[in-house]
Amino acid sequence: MNADAQKRAAAARAVEFVRPGMRLGLGTGSTAKHFVDLVGERVRAGLDVVAVPTSEATRAQAVQCGIPLTTLDETPALDLTVDGADEIGPDLALIKGGGGALLREKIVAAASARMIVIADESKWVEALGRFPLPIEVAPFGFGATEKAVHKVISALQQPGPLALRCAKDGHAFVTDGGHWIIDAALGRIDDPRAMAHALAAVPGVMEHGLFVDLAQMAIISGPERVRIVER
Ligand code: A5P
Repeated sequence: MNADAQKRAAAARAVEFVRPGMRLGLGTGSTAKHFVDLVGERVRAGLDVVAVPTSEATRAQAVQCGIPLTTLDETPALDLTVDGADEIGPDLALIKGGGGALLREKIVAAASARMIVIADESKWVEALGRFPLPIEVAPFGFGATEKAVHKVISALQQPGPLALRCAKDGHAFVTDGGHWIIDAALGRIDDPRAMAHALAAVPGVMEHGLFVDLAQMAIISGPERVRIVER
């Protein structure tokens, strides 16, 4: 299986956990896209579910697939969220946000009784941090927020370069929520929980891409087989 086939295989295994009547959270990214596609197939075959998308891109795909949508205002508690990740580390702590949807992804995951993360084997790591950590910040006061982020990271470990994420046009990348993203090159995050708490306390940080204690299960697909890891 190539990488895309591995993503689809992980998504197909996750669909087996979807039951009629479920309220679903739909993740964002190239792996979650397969899950949305497969749920769409089942909905068109008669499966009764409602779903909350984690981005405008996923919303558009879900609408096209015919998946009935709801919001966290109408449906504040979800049964299951299935989403991808940029890295999956020990205790199923995750780095997410490579696609810029981390804020909605975390709100939706936190509103779900269960989160399953789906990925190809390349996302499985011994320690988080090689993938730059996305930190979503308010554009207002960016310089001060960036300085404060640097300070809290320095208190925990050697800080790597902080980069404002840019869009193809060279301007700051803007999230669905109208915020910007700092990508923090940390190399290795020794204590993801401490880092998560420290970043969450910085005024101007809207959310960060460390998902700790959110995923209960990872479905990881390698070239040969799909395996399940539970926390
Ligand atoms: C979106 O913001 C991200 O959190 C994605 O879930 C993550 O980047 C994984 O994306 P891929 O499945 O495309 O690798």
